[in-house]
Amino acid sequence: MNKISIIGAGMTGSTTAHWLAERELADLVLVDVVEGMPQGKGLDMLEAMPIIGRDVNIVGSNDYAATKGSDIIIITAGLPRKPGMSRDDLLTANAEIVGKAATETLKYSPDAIYIVLTNPLDTMAYLTMKLTKLPRERVVGQAGILDSARMRAFVAMETGVSVQNINCYVLGGHGDEMVPLTRHSNIAGVSLRDYLPADRLAAIVERTRKGGGEIVNLLKTGSAFYAPSAAVAQMAEAILKDKHLIVPCAAYMNGEYGLNDMFFGVQVQLGRKGMEKVVEYKLDAEEKALFDKSAAAVKDTHEALKKLVKI
Ligand code: NAI
Ligand code: 2OP
Repeated sequence: MNKISIIGAGMTGSTTAHWLAERELADLVLVDVVEGMPQGKGLDMLEAMPIIGRDVNIVGSNDYAATKGSDIIIITAGLPRKPGMSRDDLLTANAEIVGKAATETLKYSPDAIYIVLTNPLDTMAYLTMKLTKLPRERVVGQAGILDSARMRAFVAMETGVSVQNINCYVLGGHGDEMVPLTRHSNIAGVSLRDYLPADRLAAIVERTRKGGGEIVNLLKTGSAFYAPSAAVAQMAEAILKDKHLIVPCAAYMNGEYGLNDMFFGVQVQLGRKGMEKVVEYKLDAEEKALFDKSAAAVKDTHEALKKLVKI
């Protein structure tokens, strides 16, 4: 059986475990600093396995030793946003938490592939790769599947078409400057630009960009967790089943789109080795300008990180 360890057993961490257990993909370990909480959630979920008929071992721990020999490490540890906060406001607190999670887990699972969720996402993925010194194939960040799923959901609400027919691609940094690619997004192959009136499409783009904040404002404490964790589970499944699945994720840029030494949301192919390749779009001038604006925002947060941590 494969083994996946999830660091941070809060809302996104425990919900990720739930989605993964349903898929019977791997034995699961939940690690958190709060004493008893990961153990309790792990045992409770384990006791659900006879009901849903899945042979999955699930344990919780406060000790990184429990993660030994993991195939995948998922990092969700850290603070979520409160109303009025941007994802970047979390940088200082979460850099310390993610840095520790990355380096401690690597000691026990030197061959693992890392999926990072903690915000500010692109910069926490960058930190994980720099501190672990892993090749770029083995560190990916989750953002684009979620942002694209939000856009897909909004298009489905607008049109009444099945979500299965709706393909949306939201790339760029996981912030307000994210880039919904309306020209490439489509319903059964028909570009959204041809399917929807311009004003309705513009409203969907705007709602997508603010999708995380919309949930934060509704919940008042904490941020979204069902859709983010479903996205992480899809990534883990693509990796463990060697699916060569192309999905939008944050990846380390090595010249793609003219970007270097930064994480950025792009289409990547996921398989057993992790991030197998970046699949590039041919951007028009308008899309390129949006990419550049989003990349500049991510770079700013990377620079702020470098003032906090020696990497
Ligand atoms: P949460 O507060 O429910 O859970 C976070 C957990 O991390 C808590 O249980 C806390 O005890 C634990 N933790 C704190 N320090 C730790 C440490 N040093 N070691 C191990 N565990 C530690 O928050 P939630 O909703 O799970 O969100 C987690 C992070 O994921 C936040 O930064 C949030 O902004 C981010 N997020 C990112 C998304 C994305 O698309 N990239 C989507 C949703 C959330
Ligand atoms: C979101 O987009 C909090 O980044 C998270 O919901």
